[in-house]
Amino acid sequence: MALYSEKVMDHFRNPRNVGVIEDADGIGEVGNAVCGDIMKLYLKIDNNIVTDVKFETFGCGSAIASSSMATEMIKGKSVDEVLQLTNKAITEALDGLPAHKLHCSVLAEEAIHAALKDYYDRNGIPYDPALFPEDVACAHEADVH
Ligand code: FES
Repeated sequence: MALYSEKVMDHFRNPRNVGVIEDADGIGEVGNAVCGDIMKLYLKIDNNIVTDVKFETFGCGSAIASSSMATEMIKGKSVDEVLQLTNKAITEALDGLPAHKLHCSVLAEEAIHAALKDYYDRNGIPYDPALFPEDVACAHEADVH
């Protein structure tokens, strides 16, 4: 069996929503201290709905595919729905990732959360800090192979 699914290869070769939103309402930048990959995600939010999303990922193919799939999954969704998106759901939508590449999808989940936190902070919207633990990227260092 191929190491990467067709969907992973497709999103890696033709990533959706790559770029920058100049007037973004929330920006999240996360990195993985071990592999050194960095992901930056921009959200445009109108009336509690994600109306646009773009990303820049300086990282491996799985990270690019995960970011691309994640942007497709959150566009048009409410902020609350977006907050529920897990790396597991991203991985499933990609028809799986090799075990040693699961942390790449975690980076996508973290970038989304960081962008939402930025959105909340900019707009003075109260939130439960437990939703956004500090230094989450490092918590996943052990997942890196
Ligand atoms: Fe670092 Fe994929 S995100 S190897």
